[in-house]
Amino acid sequence: MKQKHLVSLKDYSRADIEEIFALADKVKKDPGNFREALRGKSLAMIFQKPSTRTRVSFEVGMFQLGGMALHLSAADIQLHRGESVVDTARVLSRYVDAIMARVFAHQDIMDLAKNSTVPVINGLSDLLHPIQALADYYTLRERRGNLDGLKIAYVGDGNNVCHELILGATKLGMEIAVAAPTGYEPNPLILKSAIRDAQKGKSPVPTVTPDPMVAVAGADLVYTDVWTSMGQEAEAEKRIKAFHGFMVTSEMMAAAKPEALFMHCLPAHRGEEVAADVIDGPQSVVFQEAENRLHVQKALLLLLLGGA
Ligand code: CP
Ligand code: NVA
Repeated sequence: MKQKHLVSLKDYSRADIEEIFALADKVKKDPGNFREALRGKSLAMIFQKPSTRTRVSFEVGMFQLGGMALHLSAADIQLHRGESVVDTARVLSRYVDAIMARVFAHQDIMDLAKNSTVPVINGLSDLLHPIQALADYYTLRERRGNLDGLKIAYVGDGNNVCHELILGATKLGMEIAVAAPTGYEPNPLILKSAIRDAQKGKSPVPTVTPDPMVAVAGADLVYTDVWTSMGQEAEAEKRIKAFHGFMVTSEMMAAAKPEALFMHCLPAHRGEEVAADVIDGPQSVVFQEAENRLHVQKALLLLLLGGA
């Protein structure tokens, strides 16, 4: 893989993504073969926001590859006292072999990537969440064997997770239909970029509708995420009202294909964006999806850090 960073799947080709998936298969099947692969290497992990999956899967993943990870809460490093992201990138580059960061402003990820001499991985920004979409589509591929021509229905907020799923779907030859309330649709620039990719790669063009039943009709995968993302807590009440009718229910699942899967990046709120009987029901693969974060990110680290 020629990529230096992972800012977004937008920058990756289908072949790059397939290379990660193929290596993830090997890492998942025989983790012991990779125990020394990143011996002596280190990953700095900057967190401006909380995390369970991202932190633990990267930290344990580096350990399992023979390297180490440093958890740097933004509140504990000099970023908190106004040191710039640019200087932070320049300094960390001299100590560690890669930087993973979870940030508010997507510009911080861009600045890190631009000013770091080591690989930078976007561990979620307000705009995008590429490592999540990688694990999601890897999980779908495990379940279905082949992604070509599958239909994804994303029901809910046009947020970071939704954006990356749109960009990934078009790269991988899948159709994606987003159902979002008016005012909460995906960012038009992301849609524009995905439409361009879809036309280039002969994938179906992503669509947006205000009607969840239209989006889920005939879908192979129904996906949702929280209505209030990290950093939007002040809007929570307003959002609950705006998203009325957007909870993924068993009636919605029944409109998808009979073999349709349900995914959620987690953490989830049962009784808000998803009904408990759906997320805890037989079509849900949310924990396989969460587990795959580990395997897919280990493959990504091996490719970016040269341990493959
Ligand atoms: N899905 C996800 O990124 O989870 P965390 O916020 O727990 O890392
Ligand atoms: N959209 C959510 C995803 C959490 C993993 C958020 O940004 O809070």
